[in-house]
Amino acid sequence: MKIGIISDIHSNLEALNGVLYELKDCDEIVCLGDICHFGADTNACFDTLLNLKNFSMVKGNHDSYSNKFYRGNYEIKTELEAYIEYMLFRTNSQYQEYISNLPYVISRNISGRRIAFTHFKWDTSHETSSVPILPINNKDLNTIFSGVESEIVFFGHTHFSQDNIINADDRRGKIRYINFGPVGTPHFSPALARFGVIEINDKGNVCVEKKAIPYDKSLTVSKIAKLNHPFVPFILKKFFSN
Ligand SMILES: [Fe+2]
Repeated sequence: MKIGIISDIHSNLEALNGVLYELKDCDEIVCLGDICHFGADTNACFDTLLNLKNFSMVKGNHDSYSNKFYRGNYEIKTELEAYIEYMLFRTNSQYQEYISNLPYVISRNISGRRIAFTHFKWDTSHETSSVPILPINNKDLNTIFSGVESEIVFFGHTHFSQDNIINADDRRGKIRYINFGPVGTPHFSPALARFGVIEINDKGNVCVEKKAIPYDKSLTVSKIAKLNHPFVPFILKKFFSN
């Protein structure tokens, strides 16, 4: 069983297409959330992913924000909120219905190995959670994922790549927490799309591979720059100035 793991696409179609090409021989693709916001191609990213044969995903905080606005549950006080509304008008309603039904966690047992996929926290509280100092230390990881019963936890959200093996407690034993980094928002490192592949054989042996590829960042940036919203300069500076 070979699974491609992607996270934090943030509507970056160029990065997503490059990554999916690299993952074409995987048995399935799992997305750890955050398709929405920052890039210009939200609909095209949903189109691409939902046309994959074996695709599943969890809800990210930005998917949640967008969906909350779609439900009419918002008021605009900040430029970010104005931007979320602006992007909402550019997102097909069928994708909002899809987001509504997404889980926060997918837990699987593959060849006897208990594996979990999540964006960040185990419940809806991730909608307002800020990111701690990076990389997240072992103590904070154990707190953030205190509900976990899995041996390996794949998460996203922080846009920062890390791989920690922690002694959780006597009951839960060792837990490995892996974040491959973002597909679409390369703000902590040069403009590469980051993702991972795991292979689990029949005996339950797990092989984890961390990957990064270049893509046409100038095309991504030019599309974002064409969006007519005052939040756009912040996005370009924060996520694409490397
Ligand atoms: Fe994100």
